[in-house]
Amino acid sequence: MRRTPTLRKLMQETRVTVDDLVYPIFVNDGISQATEVPSMPGVFNLPEFALGAEVERAWKAGIKAVILFGVTSQKDPIGEDSLDDNGLMARMIRTAKTAAPEMVVISDNCFCEYTDHGHCGVLCADGKNVDNDETLQNLEAQAVVAARAGVDVVAPSGMMDGMVEAMREALDSHGFEQVAIMAYSSKFASAFYGPFRDAVDSHFKGTRSGYQLDPSNGREAIAESIQDEDEGADILMVKPGLPYLDVLARLRDMCERPIAVYQVSGEYAMIKHAANAGALDERALVLETLTSFKRAGADLILTYYAVQAAEWLKD
Ligand code: PBG
Repeated sequence: MRRTPTLRKLMQETRVTVDDLVYPIFVNDGISQATEVPSMPGVFNLPEFALGAEVERAWKAGIKAVILFGVTSQKDPIGEDSLDDNGLMARMIRTAKTAAPEMVVISDNCFCEYTDHGHCGVLCADGKNVDNDETLQNLEAQAVVAARAGVDVVAPSGMMDGMVEAMREALDSHGFEQVAIMAYSSKFASAFYGPFRDAVDSHFKGTRSGYQLDPSNGREAIAESIQDEDEGADILMVKPGLPYLDVLARLRDMCERPIAVYQVSGEYAMIKHAANAGALDERALVLETLTSFKRAGADLILTYYAVQAAEWLKD
């Protein structure tokens, strides 16, 4: 059955297409030219004026969805800039929707890119732990700001308890029943996020283990995801990708929602640096990892390789 290319095509169980890919974009409101992320060669922080053209470029490559990360120069203890209808998050969404109206625009709803301490929410009086419930109120406000700006999908990524329910209620009560929620539901406290923190100029020190999952805990990840599904999440997510394929496969068996997987910054960096060193075939490796995600049960794949992979998938 593997003897010829046509036989192999016929027997192929899993196919990755450009329709599966979600492209993450970093926008920095404090720069005037595109700046490469040192730990992620080939990935850039864009100045705000360049976002529209980048979204158009992705659309022309066949990409159907982008997820936007704002790197604000207005960091403060609570992340006010993301709660403002004229703040960076709202502006990015409007720019992206204007550039490609049919593109599905997703906002990363979190505070770590907007706070001066770099945590994913407001801090308790101890200055160390995140105040879960206070953060929920801000997430509700942030979701409504994103919705008013025209977002299609909000993606809470802070792993706060009750975040999906809180955002769903806030959206519905403001007339945004149509805005969907993609929950970062199985998000592990991972060393693979290192380059991302570089990219978003996070001043974060310490640990997110108070809210993100312990990499040792597969069952807890499933429980968290099922809870997000019960709270009304439209899409669930496993993150990072490759080290957590077991979680992805188990979740696929246990829920009927679409599942996204995030091939995170550290996964990108590992492939890119190895390829640049001549140790690995980048194209083959990227396509193999994307195929593994789909085989394990992912419907959507967030990857910094999205636009490049769209080109590779054409041949
Ligand atoms: C924000 C957020 C993070 C990532 C996506 N959203 C970082 C973190 O939790 O520290 C990581 C993405 C990546 O590494 O590519 N909470």
